[in-house]
Amino acid sequence: MVDAEKKLKQKMIAVCSAKGGVGRTLLSVNLAIALNKKNLNVSLLDSNFQFGDVSLVMDLQPSFTIKDVIEELARIDKDSIENYVTSHASGVKVLPAPDKPEYAELITDEASLKVVDLIRQQSDYLVVDTGVGIVDQSLDIIDQADQILIVTNLEMTALKSTRLMLETLEKLGLSDKVVLVVNRYDMESLIKAEDVPDMIGHKKVIYLPNNFKIASQSLNLGVPLVSGQPKSNLSKAIFKMAETLLSDQDVTMPSNVKKKGLFRK
Ligand SMILES: Nc1ncnc2c1ncn2[C@@H]1O[C@H](COP(=O)(O)OP(=O)(O)OP(=O)(O)O)[C@@H](O)[C@H]1O
Ligand SMILES: [Mg+2]
Repeated sequence: MVDAEKKLKQKMIAVCSAKGGVGRTLLSVNLAIALNKKNLNVSLLDSNFQFGDVSLVMDLQPSFTIKDVIEELARIDKDSIENYVTSHASGVKVLPAPDKPEYAELITDEASLKVVDLIRQQSDYLVVDTGVGIVDQSLDIIDQADQILIVTNLEMTALKSTRLMLETLEKLGLSDKVVLVVNRYDMESLIKAEDVPDMIGHKKVIYLPNNFKIASQSLNLGVPLVSGQPKSNLSKAIFKMAETLLSDQDVTMPSNVKKKGLFRK
């Protein structure tokens, strides 16, 4: 493959959320594995620099984290960065967050962008778990991403913060890249999943089902659900999402969201 063609494939997906605990890490990890299963070379960066938990979710014992890369940055190039990533059984190459929250301060915006750039040159796809909200370090990464996923659930507080985050990204001219991910769309809620696009003012939406059993089991075992439970509804939805993102297709609402309605008691 010639360089120009290869470059076209080096895409970055930033997985963000305005609120914590909405499933950002679960999605980042499983989406990276789902993309990797498409015969792509996929890397995963945990840029939740203070409290990143990608290693835990993937049951990895990494020798290096992004802190080590940053300390050696002057001597690392696109080839030697390979020595710092940890390969997961799925084939996804992971650069984890530092193992202590205080190390997050050592990671400047400039350094994290350089790391992103180096990993990107080694991957067809780079998936980044950007942590909660928009802070300086994550904004730079979000700004460089080809696709920005904002994960939310149906809780009012999450939706309110998601709308504000989208408004900010809109002001920065980034909203065209944003796909809203409504996680656990069929959970018990007074808010209907089908109303979310209007509430938030964003039409590109992907819905992922609630499956507490599979999600918690995968976390407890450290086996990502698309690997351990590939036939579950949540895994199937994530595989489909990977295809949608790969083909840059228009995202649409699954028919069961419209049919069932979600005004449940
Ligand atoms: N679709 C789902 N169905 C059921 N449970 C889910 C689903 N997605 C995530 N969860 C559960 O929600 C919890 C939070 O998920 P996760 O750790 O991925 O969130 P997060 O946004 O990364 O949180 P943090 O902000 O703390 O990093 C976990 O217990 C996970 O199992
Ligand atoms: Mg997380």
